[in-house]
Amino acid sequence: MKEEKFKIHNKKVNHIDKDEKILDFEILPRTHSPMYLMHKYWARKPANIVAHYIQRYCPQNGIVLDPFMGSGVTVLESIFNNRLAIGVDLNPMADFITKNTGLYANIPKLEKAFQIIKKDVENRNSVFSKLFELRCPSCQNTNAIISHLIWLKKKDDLNHELEEIRFKCPNCGEIVANHSNLNEIFILIKPFVLEQEKNALTLLSQEQKKNPNVSFKYSNNRAFIQLRHNLRKKPELTELFTKRNYTFLIVLINLINNLPEDFKKEKEFLRFCFTSSLGQSSKMVWVINKRKGKTLKKKQVGSWTHHFFWDPSNFFEVNAWNCFKHRFSKLKKGKIDSNVRNNKSRLKFKLAESFKDLSIKSPVLLWNKSSSKLELPDNVIDFVFTDPPYGDSIQYGELSAFWNVWLDQNM
Ligand SMILES: C[S@@+](CC[C@H](N)C(=O)[O-])C[C@H]1O[C@@H](n2cnc3c(N)ncnc32)[C@H](O)[C@@H]1O
Repeated sequence: MKEEKFKIHNKKVNHIDKDEKILDFEILPRTHSPMYLMHKYWARKPANIVAHYIQRYCPQNGIVLDPFMGSGVTVLESIFNNRLAIGVDLNPMADFITKNTGLYANIPKLEKAFQIIKKDVENRNSVFSKLFELRCPSCQNTNAIISHLIWLKKKDDLNHELEEIRFKCPNCGEIVANHSNLNEIFILIKPFVLEQEKNALTLLSQEQKKNPNVSFKYSNNRAFIQLRHNLRKKPELTELFTKRNYTFLIVLINLINNLPEDFKKEKEFLRFCFTSSLGQSSKMVWVINKRKGKTLKKKQVGSWTHHFFWDPSNFFEVNAWNCFKHRFSKLKKGKIDSNVRNNKSRLKFKLAESFKDLSIKSPVLLWNKSSSKLELPDNVIDFVFTDPPYGDSIQYGELSAFWNVWLDQNM
């Protein structure tokens, strides 16, 4: 950074409050706004603090660089505070999250794209209905839908046993069946649910879909460092999903990928919604039995809270379509939020193709590469704000494989 420029920013810039020479006071982090709640990323920085630094140390229309941009908080706060931004990250997921967070969305068109998918998923003869539909034992309605299953690890430490079935019947409402609650119903429908799970993958072969998988290993065959020991026996993506949810997810991502060309941008938002729903559709969702020391009557649904892959002994299988629908409502809220911010700020989140192309009209440059390979002219950056990687404590690249593998367009 040029020395005079640095001095200007510290001493003479008039947009800064006179009393605020340096940031030597506490700024309390605010909770994330909906824009930052659309997709998980590890150690996302509080936007209000990042914004404060940008306003304090970078002049209007200046260029901010984040060489380890992650989910893009620095880039987004720069644009929405009228600064240009360059974000660099080795992880393609960082680029994907940042773009989909910042780009303007046509909300009615996004809703239309979602409705096209919904119609296909909920069609009477769909794979979804074959995987999740039940005949309600109380009223015989054939449109009852499994919402959650609880699986418990058996003593042999290899397999899981079905412990609870929750479903929603159009007539009878929500039903929770297990050995101590509605035992008869549980015993009646359990074989059917187990059969559905056992046969799920055959539905894929009928549809001729490719099964995405990835091994959680390095090229020297060693398993990822941050991997729970029980997964080390077979460190691969398919171990993290039940057959039912895995099958449905493949069908769902294909429906999204095959949306008409006219929905190009919406397709990307829905793919973003899809990866965002994967954690809750996986086996990494643990079962909450107790709250404040008291055993719960109805077990509660946990989430993927760790920054490693694991398969909890007891887990919830949450209906993957419900997970996607839930994430879609978060996506809509987030896109409304980022639309408002785009509308309010003078600079809009528009991508530049190269450094030469970076301007007030296209103020965002994203590079998916290592920051050790930056090719930037001297003295062009006004302010650097970054949060470097945490070594092997959070393995960003490895963890993102869980999402990345689903983003191949040719599945
Ligand atoms: C601590 S995270 C940044 C999180 C970010 N501040 C946020 O709010 O989301 C560090 C980032 O550095 C990236 N990274 C690691 N090595 C890199 C490299 N050599 N070049 C560029 N990015 C790298 C990781 O992929 C990760 O996204």
